[in-house]
Amino acid sequence: MRWKNTSAKYGSAVIGLHWLTLLLVVAVYGCMELRGWVPKASAWRGTLKSLHFSLGLSVLVLVCVRLAVRWAAGASPPIAPPLSVWQQRLARLGHVVLYAFLLVMPVLGWFILSAKGTPILWFGASLPALMAPDDALGEQVKSLHEGLATVGYFLVGLHALAALAHHYLRHDNTLVRMLAYRRRQGEGGKS
Ligand code: HEM
Ligand code: HEM
Repeated sequence: MRWKNTSAKYGSAVIGLHWLTLLLVVAVYGCMELRGWVPKASAWRGTLKSLHFSLGLSVLVLVCVRLAVRWAAGASPPIAPPLSVWQQRLARLGHVVLYAFLLVMPVLGWFILSAKGTPILWFGASLPALMAPDDALGEQVKSLHEGLATVGYFLVGLHALAALAHHYLRHDNTLVRMLAYRRRQGEGGKS
């Protein structure tokens, strides 16, 4: 399988980074969801939070790599049968919003820790604060981060549902282009 996109499929680099993003995003949310199940005094709460910060910062690194790879990998393989113009625009808008989410969420998190004067550690490596401590602003950014996190559930859910609707209702190649294997014999050409 080639790392660059072909006219039939996304390349291995785009596919690998897409599904790695999914895994990371699940882990980032998972840490915060699990935190609710752990007793308040437990050391696990702190561990889950630190893991949330480190994995969240990894999303920022990953999305930067992903945007660079997207540019280098060439044009996206066309969807067959083709979408109407408004569907293409809607799909593009959805992807732009997802990329914006992946960039904005970690940066907001980084701002929260900076404003609160908390050390910013990425798996033990210390990162610089983005602003001087300001507790009130930190609380506001935290509310925004938490609000957007809720919106994120719907964004990702809608995106996944759209992919499944393309596959099972519209019977086009949208999802198959993003999978590392071929669904049926002869589908997707040689890769
Ligand atoms: C894609 C990246 C991220 C997502 C999807 C995300 C999502 C979330 C979620 C779901 C919560 C819990 C919201 C709630 O309790 O209502 C949360 C809280 C929080 N996140 Fe993130 N986050 C991300 C990245 C980061 C990063 C990189 C940092 C810091 C470096 C960070 C710092 C925080 C902080 C400080 C809180 C509040 C924790 C508390 O309750 O004390 N987040 N985030
Ligand atoms: C079960 C979960 C998921 C499924 C089934 C899925 C499926 C797909 C498919 C089929 C595409 C190709 C769409 C096209 O080319 O028109 C795509 C693209 C994309 N997905 Fe997902 N995805 C999932 C989760 C996620 C998650 C968690 C994120 C990030 C939060 C994400 C972000 C993106 C982005 C940004 C693109 C655009 C790629 C580009 O053109 O650069 N996906 N996804």
